[in-house]
Amino acid sequence: MIYMNILVTGGAGYIGSHTVVELIESGHNVTIVDDLSNSSEIAVDRIGQITGVKPSLFAFDLQDTSRLDEVFASNSFDAVIHFAGLKAVGESVVKPLLYYKTNIDSTLSLLEVMAKHNVRKLVFSSSATVYGSAPIPYSESSPIGQGITNPYGQTKYMIEQILRDTGTADSQLEFSLLRYFNPVGAHPSGLIGEDPRGVPNNLMPFVAQVASGKRKELSIFGNDYNTPDGTCIRDYIHVVDLAKGHVAALQNLNPGVNEYNLGSGRGTSVLELVGTFSSVTGQEIPYSFAERRPGDLPEFYADPKKAKIDLSWKTELSIDDMCRDTWRWQSSNPNGYVDNSMS
Ligand code: UFG
Repeated sequence: MIYMNILVTGGAGYIGSHTVVELIESGHNVTIVDDLSNSSEIAVDRIGQITGVKPSLFAFDLQDTSRLDEVFASNSFDAVIHFAGLKAVGESVVKPLLYYKTNIDSTLSLLEVMAKHNVRKLVFSSSATVYGSAPIPYSESSPIGQGITNPYGQTKYMIEQILRDTGTADSQLEFSLLRYFNPVGAHPSGLIGEDPRGVPNNLMPFVAQVASGKRKELSIFGNDYNTPDGTCIRDYIHVVDLAKGHVAALQNLNPGVNEYNLGSGRGTSVLELVGTFSSVTGQEIPYSFAERRPGDLPEFYADPKKAKIDLSWKTELSIDDMCRDTWRWQSSNPNGYVDNSMS
């Protein structure tokens, strides 16, 4: 095994922090750049508690190319994992320019500085959203870019194109584009997890806040879809499995640009997820049915074969594990990452 010196952008965020833990536990050295706009420095302390190694954190926006250049000049990175970016689907519809500018400019800034310092390996945080209205299950050879319903999804698709073009222009580059399905769950230690600001947009953090009494009831968006129980079906993936997928991608980089689905290949409906959460945690989840949410697809899940063959990676954790670990995180950190040192 060759241990690498890795820059993780967005490494204090939800998926980033879990990936940093797995990288450190695999023996790699990690430096984080994160502007802390939707994440907390406390997550970095917690990474230190879990692994015994606290990674260095540089708190600035990647669009600040000259600061990024300084970080590259003083570290000799072997590879970059790029998570940093805005990710709220609904907000992206209201603030499209903010999303296009932030997500695309930060990636261009990163690519420019990587080229200057001859860093050729990159793992990028993409999304199953790039498949838009493609037939299910989504495989890496499915068409992409059609029927993407929001600017956030468009930025993932556009950045993928930028990376493919960059890879075509320089055959020495080694890029892996990871298309996540629905990441949920938390580290089994209960020390790191998802800490949404304000009202959660996504299902699992909302369910967790209903369970803890922070919110009264869950609205299930639509019960008249053409699915067995009428609610939408998604491919949920435990964030620790997802994090391990990044380590596998990093350790299997080759010249060229490769796309990989990181999902389980199994679909779970909203009602099934809520039912499992209740039975695993013993918490009641009051819910009612509401109107469909605009832009939601009835059903999608991964064809995960390519990652299994090329990366020797597949999901190991179940929906029960996802619910149990989410609840451990939520119940031991009811207000997310709060600094108790002042109280
Ligand atoms: N849902 C509810 N009530 C809620 C929240 C969600 O019923 O309060 C339902 C949604 O309607 C959907 C399912 O739960 O049917 C999952 O919704 P999420 O918001 O958790 O996840 P999405 O599948 O909509 O979004 C995810 C990622 C996005 C990504 C998108 C497409 O969060 O980043 O998949 O790949 F763009």
